[in-house]
Amino acid sequence: MSRKGGTGRLLVRDLTELATPAGEGAPVRGDELGRVDVLEGAFILCEDGLVARVGRMRDLPPLDGDVDVLDGRGLCAIPGLVDCHTHACFAGDRVEEFALRAGGATYEELHARGGGIMSTVRATRAATPDELGQGVARHRQWMLRSGTTTFEAKSGYGLDLETELASLRAIREAGGVATWLGAHAVPPEFDDADAYLDFALRDVLPRAAELAEAADVFLERGAFDVVQARRYLEACRDAGLSLRLHGDQFTEQGAIDLAIELGARSVDHLEATGERGVRTLAGSPVTGVLLPASALFLGRPMPPARALVDAGAAVALATDFNPGSAFCESLPLVCSLAATQLKLSPAEALTACTVNAAHVLGRADRLGRLAPGYAADVVLLDAPDWRYLAYHLGGQLVAKTIVAGTPGELR
Ligand code: NIG
Ligand code: FE
Repeated sequence: MSRKGGTGRLLVRDLTELATPAGEGAPVRGDELGRVDVLEGAFILCEDGLVARVGRMRDLPPLDGDVDVLDGRGLCAIPGLVDCHTHACFAGDRVEEFALRAGGATYEELHARGGGIMSTVRATRAATPDELGQGVARHRQWMLRSGTTTFEAKSGYGLDLETELASLRAIREAGGVATWLGAHAVPPEFDDADAYLDFALRDVLPRAAELAEAADVFLERGAFDVVQARRYLEACRDAGLSLRLHGDQFTEQGAIDLAIELGARSVDHLEATGERGVRTLAGSPVTGVLLPASALFLGRPMPPARALVDAGAAVALATDFNPGSAFCESLPLVCSLAATQLKLSPAEALTACTVNAAHVLGRADRLGRLAPGYAADVVLLDAPDWRYLAYHLGGQLVAKTIVAGTPGELR
């Protein structure tokens, strides 16, 4: 989200609870994932866009000079949520396909028939840069209302030079962290994936690398195979981009091994990951990004989250917000799914969509905890216990969002 650079001071006082992932460093894994520090009767003092101090009200020091004060009674504070995997830049919708899926059509069938991702590519190519910008800004507002203060968004619905660059610009202008998903699908003007990659790596990559922080690939049957994914990711790495993969969504195609081989930041989805994949990922530095809203939306199996965490894998949670497989911008809902479907505790879920998600975006030194020196990005929950974050399924939970020490609108 865009930061106004917080000039003043803000004190949020008399909070029912303040909850923050414990410790330091990232990514957090194993038992540490479930360690959350909870202060009852708490305050948080923000200065110049950063957290200056948190503590119990009885330890609040006298404050000299100007300070804006926010009444935190009845509210719980958690760090601003970090959505590290979205496809927030698109035009049109897929409500028609959604209705067909409700009647029994599958996501993969629609994709194979030229619908799915390609139908959003057609709509996105037809949009002007202004319309794309308005779309991302609208989606960003939805996210903010759900407590997301930092979001990543991928291109990947243009798949031509002009629309990919316009998408990356729109994401950046809306304050998002931009990822070039140049290998999302093969557009119809190319004979095959290799011919498309020839074009994308020659013509788009040099320009995309100036706008994006990372590159992503859809490694899946019907999209890009492991040889093509390696070629794409190696070129992107050589151009200075961090690497991400959509892997093991429907079938295991070697995404985890490739992510480790290339030193990727993350491998995302993992609904089809088996025991070997769990062990391999757990023994690696790569973060597994779990997207339970996508599994729910498509009626697919959930990723083996409990096994991953118990084996010691670093995991993050994200929405996968997109028009086809997860029309859901709510990380609180994702936390509810994490607790009810993935069997993660509310504490594990909180860490996974704050510190560990910030790690996937290379920002864990300043985002994801409520501690001195971190960005003053805070979510105030309308709840008597911070664990309502996961407990209040689909609830109107977010009372206020503070970005860089500046409070946003109340609902
Ligand atoms: O993460 N699987 C590939 N990409 C997206 C879906 C994109 C779409 O359906 O438009 C995903 O699920
Ligand atoms: Fe995705």
